[in-house]
Amino acid sequence: MRTNAMPRSGFRRRALAGALGVLTAAAALVAPPPAAAAESTLGAAAAQSGRYFGTAIASGRLNDSVYTTIANREFNSVTAENEMKIDATEPQRGQFNFTAADRVYNWAVQNGKEVRGHTLAWHSQQPDWMRNLSGGALRQAMIDHINGVMAHYRGKIVQWDVVNEAFEDGNSGARRDSNLQRTGNDWIEVAFRTARAADPAAKLCYNDYNVENWNWAKTQAMYAMVRDFKQRGVPIDCVGFQSHFNSGSPYNSNFRTTLQNFAALGVDVAITELDIQGASPTTYANVTNDCLAVERCLGITVWGVRDSDSWRSEQTPLLFDGNGNKKAAYTSVLNALNGGTSEPPPEGGTIQGAGSGRCLDVPNASTSDGTQLQLWDCHGGTNQQWEPTDAGELRVYGNKCLDAAGTGNGASVQIYSCWGGDNQKWRVNSDGTIVGVQSGLCLDAAGSANGSPIQLYSCWNGSNQRWTLT
Ligand code: XIL
Repeated sequence: MRTNAMPRSGFRRRALAGALGVLTAAAALVAPPPAAAAESTLGAAAAQSGRYFGTAIASGRLNDSVYTTIANREFNSVTAENEMKIDATEPQRGQFNFTAADRVYNWAVQNGKEVRGHTLAWHSQQPDWMRNLSGGALRQAMIDHINGVMAHYRGKIVQWDVVNEAFEDGNSGARRDSNLQRTGNDWIEVAFRTARAADPAAKLCYNDYNVENWNWAKTQAMYAMVRDFKQRGVPIDCVGFQSHFNSGSPYNSNFRTTLQNFAALGVDVAITELDIQGASPTTYANVTNDCLAVERCLGITVWGVRDSDSWRSEQTPLLFDGNGNKKAAYTSVLNALNGGTSEPPPEGGTIQGAGSGRCLDVPNASTSDGTQLQLWDCHGGTNQQWEPTDAGELRVYGNKCLDAAGTGNGASVQIYSCWGGDNQKWRVNSDGTIVGVQSGLCLDAAGSANGSPIQLYSCWNGSNQRWTLT
């Protein structure tokens, strides 16, 4: 069994699964592999795939033994429900107070749990002195706050929600109006750059709600921001999806697409404040499986232990009832975690030219960004294995994408690290053409011999533009 101490990069998980696949194939000649034993707690079950299962902890409940017994038994990650927020940690300007925050932090660490930090820059739960600031003074106060809190926990927090809830609800896709936003649109990137310098070991997350449905404007606005940050080198490592699902903001099965699309930008994703009005077991299982399906989904945090601990207790949205009994949703999540180790890594296949019979090939199995592709005799090597993703990419080696270096006739088609751009998205059509989403041009072999370069070219239905994915 893998423990939660395992490195949780998607690549390692994939590499390990691949190695196990080889071992299993060899072992199958001798004896079938034993079935994995089911784990009996959420944290242990999530750890089987290198993930965590966490909860929000309220310091005021730590002397309730029913609460702490469940929390300690079931969860291996902790988020302070309120204690690390701005009003709690810097009640007076320049005077930091970590009493309640440390109570949660110490309880977590003494019980072997990792800690998510929540949250450093937010329009809500600001102390009065900060609410009354604006402009340059507020910008400086935000920077000082991030530095003060992150210095206290330097090296101790796995993920920090650096910025929380900066986008507007509804269809505008705009930033939320707030005193922080009014200091200038760059306040978010300033917060992230400050945070990186203050604690280089922490994963830096942007966290929000109503961003789980891929079709919502708020989701798209957040996606554009993260893509922009990745392109410009603003330090961001993860995106937190609060996942407060209710009748006004219901779960939609395209949540998995959302997680996949963000992961394809090169950030980790996490479900950070999960609660579901009515706690439908099916919806809880769906959300769990969505995380399990995405390699870069680090883990799931539910926003409280029992229904009676919830900030929305009237919705009975959690996994334990007010008496601490497991609800049906608990069993459904546990089963999903036990049955739901990551989906087997996609095998990938070759992309064979109709006219040449040769394969789309990375010359010399190079992994360098910018290497132009060629035709080569099919031989099944990893440099000829292409894996379509739900985001429309064609991936090789797991993390390199088929990438158009331009948008005109003759533009080179190369490999490049996947970053979610439209020049890395392709439509695989039933007539055998593969069309670049950005250019509208066809994947085209400029010849049929070994070594013929691959380019973009206007579609004309030639056999050098038709391909078979095996
Ligand atoms: C909530 C807490 O659960 C409440 O106790 C508090 O009164 C208000 O904040 N999004 C967030 C969380 O990021 O910090 C919020 O937590 C819930 C919504």
